[in-house]
Amino acid sequence: MTRAIARFYQSFYDHVLSRLPEPAAVSLGQRVLRAVPFDRLGVFHLEDPRLAISLGGIRLANPLILAAMYYDAGLLRRAMGLGFGAVTAKSITVRPRPGHPLPNLVRVRSAAGPGLVNCNGFQNPGLPVFRRAISGLAHRVPLIASVAGESVDDYLALVEGLAPCADLVEVNISSPNTALVYAWNTQPRALRSLLEAARRACPKPLIVKLSPDFADANEREIIPAALEAGIAIVNYGNTRRVDDARLSQGTGGLSGPELFPATLANLERTRARFGTALEIIATGGVDAPDKAIALLRAGATAVSYFTGFVTRGPILAREILEALLAASPRI
Ligand SMILES: Cc1cc2nc3c(=O)[nH]c(=O)nc-3n(C[C@H](O)[C@H](O)[C@H](O)COP(=O)(O)O)c2cc1C
Repeated sequence: MTRAIARFYQSFYDHVLSRLPEPAAVSLGQRVLRAVPFDRLGVFHLEDPRLAISLGGIRLANPLILAAMYYDAGLLRRAMGLGFGAVTAKSITVRPRPGHPLPNLVRVRSAAGPGLVNCNGFQNPGLPVFRRAISGLAHRVPLIASVAGESVDDYLALVEGLAPCADLVEVNISSPNTALVYAWNTQPRALRSLLEAARRACPKPLIVKLSPDFADANEREIIPAALEAGIAIVNYGNTRRVDDARLSQGTGGLSGPELFPATLANLERTRARFGTALEIIATGGVDAPDKAIALLRAGATAVSYFTGFVTRGPILAREILEALLAASPRI
């Protein structure tokens, strides 16, 4: 059954979604996800106590996490029933943001497979509206709120505002396509103060989402600063900054399978350097069960993905979980 659904989705992606202009494909994909109660179909879940993990002391039924992209409460509710152990909401800013103008998402295809480049520009409804929208959301699985700001005060307002509605909070310092966030990577002292202030203000487990563009700084300064501030979970990582003349900003964040070799290498180095002091969510390029298994074998606490959800469909989580169970004594 799992394989039949995977084949059906692949055909839908290859013949319909990937041939539509990107904005039409996004709109169709989200409309289908909203309209069809996939989350009520048993085929997308796989419950087995052997899959459970702990992340920041929170129990996840399995180690798969949907990476940050959706802020709409209806889509988050659906995603919570699609086999993930936790779901991350899109990064929220204090005030609403319209995002960058179109084109802000384009497809790329490399030998590794289909990917995306986006300069979404943090399109989101802002803190008060988002908080109201998710306040009634049942947490069928843990919800990770993601926050993005320009100043320590921004992050404090966001962390304080969203912690009550979330199970964990992710501090995004890594999205590459606005004046927000990315610059923290080049200001280690300011970043250290930000992480300390966020830790003091947040009663929930905190995650720092790292950029693959700053591998040296991550190891030398950023992860040590997080650990010293009392933040022991990193999500490694976000998209990689690339130029793409088709985008309205001429530059954006690359996601999808081209990222995978760096995701694995960053994880291996980080695990070797920081040992078990750190919990690591490995993100970037996971679009097949063998990639998720490789990351878990290399020491990832959990694995997250977004582009694979689009290119391989909601059945990918179930495919990975089946493969994990089949490989389970060896992971
Ligand atoms: C359209 C789009 C929007 C995204 N928005 C966010 C965001 O708001 N916050 C964030 O931390 N990451 C965001 N990401 C990055 C993903 O969460 C993920 O880290 C990245 O895509 C790499 O994983 P993947 O190769 O599995 O997609 C976005 C990615 C895409 C494609």
